[in-house]
Amino acid sequence: MHKLTQKEVFKGLNLENIDFYLLDTVDSTNTFAKEKSLNKDYLVVVSEQQTGGRGRQGKEWYSPDAGNIYMTIKFRDKNPAPLSLIIGLLISEAMDSVSGQKINAGLKWPNDLLINKKKISGILIESEVNADQIEFIVGIGINYSLPKKESWWGEISELADILPREKLINSILRGIINYSDNGYENWKTEWEKRCMHIDTELKAVSNNQRDIDIGIFKGINEEGKMLLQTKSELKLISSGECSIKGVY
Ligand code: BTN
Repeated sequence: MHKLTQKEVFKGLNLENIDFYLLDTVDSTNTFAKEKSLNKDYLVVVSEQQTGGRGRQGKEWYSPDAGNIYMTIKFRDKNPAPLSLIIGLLISEAMDSVSGQKINAGLKWPNDLLINKKKISGILIESEVNADQIEFIVGIGINYSLPKKESWWGEISELADILPREKLINSILRGIINYSDNGYENWKTEWEKRCMHIDTELKAVSNNQRDIDIGIFKGINEEGKMLLQTKSELKLISSGECSIKGVY
């Protein structure tokens, strides 16, 4: 397997602004990034493997040394848009741009990416306050290849030729840095275009599993909350409160 190299991953990026770590193994790129202080505009951690990869809601993120992407970018974001939705959108766009094709990885609210109705990427965003400024720790996992026993997860091994992972990482970093510098005016429209469950019926399950709403997903608002049309009302629900089921 071709190992990631600094030259390829950071090609064309201004390394005066970026502290970076390209590792063979680490517990979690997010944990590693959290422990480092942010001395430049960006801190980037990429690893071939994670021994304690973390997913959302306290879950584990299976992270073998198998040519997958495990990366974290830490930075201060001054834009008003909801970062968690923006990142999913930027990854989906990076896949199209690197491959030169409409891969159209579908977005599942708030920030999973799916291809053929299987999850191929997950995003874990954490934050910290330092000297009165919020620092975001954005962790991205993209699966190229997983053992057969994990096959309910999606992987993109078939796309590896048109989506070399060093180019995809590079393009995602460019997208995030460009977003952080310039914002993204029509992000909401673009997010909704790539969402795979607009106008479909789904279940919103609250984090305590006690409350379940069934309704039609009508899109998102400027804060990234979902608009769910239930039998009785149009509800606004934030991603911190619940997750959605029944879309794949
Ligand atoms: C999810 O549960 O969908 C989010 C998964 C996020 C996984 C990535 S891999 C790189 C970074 N480091 C971690 O420990 N987790 C994130």
